[in-house]
Amino acid sequence: MSRGAGADSDTADEAVRGTCDDASICKRFAVSIGYWKDPYIQYFVRQAKERKAPEINRGYYARVHGVNLLLDAFLRRTEGNCQIINLGAGLDTTFWRLKDENLLPKKYFEVDFPTIVARKLYNIKSKLPLSKPIMETHAGESLLIDAHSLDSTRYSIIGADLRNLQDMEEKLLKFGMDAQLPTLLVAECVLVYMTSEQSSSLLKWAADKFPTAMFINYEQVNMADRFGQIMVENLKRRQCNLAGVDACQSLQSQMDRLLSNGWEAADAWNMIKVYCGLPQEDVRRIEKLEFLDEKELLEQLLLHYCISWATKDGLHLGLAEITF
Ligand SMILES: C[S@@+](CC[C@H](N)C(=O)[O-])C[C@H]1O[C@@H](n2cnc3c(N)ncnc32)[C@H](O)[C@@H]1O
Repeated sequence: MSRGAGADSDTADEAVRGTCDDASICKRFAVSIGYWKDPYIQYFVRQAKERKAPEINRGYYARVHGVNLLLDAFLRRTEGNCQIINLGAGLDTTFWRLKDENLLPKKYFEVDFPTIVARKLYNIKSKLPLSKPIMETHAGESLLIDAHSLDSTRYSIIGADLRNLQDMEEKLLKFGMDAQLPTLLVAECVLVYMTSEQSSSLLKWAADKFPTAMFINYEQVNMADRFGQIMVENLKRRQCNLAGVDACQSLQSQMDRLLSNGWEAADAWNMIKVYCGLPQEDVRRIEKLEFLDEKELLEQLLLHYCISWATKDGLHLGLAEITF
């Protein structure tokens, strides 16, 4: 798998790594206003200096709740007898949420670039509210934690490039990945930063590797229209190239990529539909948190993101029935 070489690709990768802070800062801001609870995110990123717009906060609310709904449904369906691999996890705090809710899978893996992992591990090592839950779920000998990886009984963090599948697989295997276990792979705003060939290879690798599996993908959609093009241009100006935008043309192109890379069943919802499918009592609660002036802008934003998911069901667990 080629990684691209030279100064240009290094700058591009650096910009992609920067998106990890953007995501966590936005999530932290939304949490601070009360959109959802996450007592752990404060240990990873500073509070935003400026307020984020209400439509951004509602967008993050739909994203986090949408992904969580499918993730929790997979955990219920497999009764926790499974593993989760969060690809491009950044500073995500799902491990701690699942621990608090007593929902941890057999093992929870995360993969991101080594420099992002190093930052995450620095915070974990230096902040007791982060390290204590990991210690509490660890059995046996002392856990492994070095500059670019953590390995404990229930949680592993791996520094690897998602475009170098062989290296990533070796590291996952070293830390106890079990391909025969039902496996949930999550990519939250990640695939769009690699070329369509690279994301297809990743999807195909996952479909070939795990006989019983689900893939949840959150990212852009409808990118060929005017609003989509402006999004692409804005990011380009910040040196951040949406290299995988081809696969983000429509809900159909999102599903096609999954189905043509070995997945048996697939679905894709834009975030308007997801927002409307979330528990409406909580949606009414968050809609009272901030006055939303720009309803159309929220609709446009939600229309340009989607959650697509796919399943393979070797063990006949009924994974294809999972939906919102
Ligand atoms: C927009 S952030 C999302 C982080 C997290 N999934 C979330 O939603 O909060 C994208 C993440 O994907 C990671 N990423 C993108 N391309 C990657 C690659 N080729 N290898 C490893 N990580 C990658 C970035 O470093 C970054 O942490």
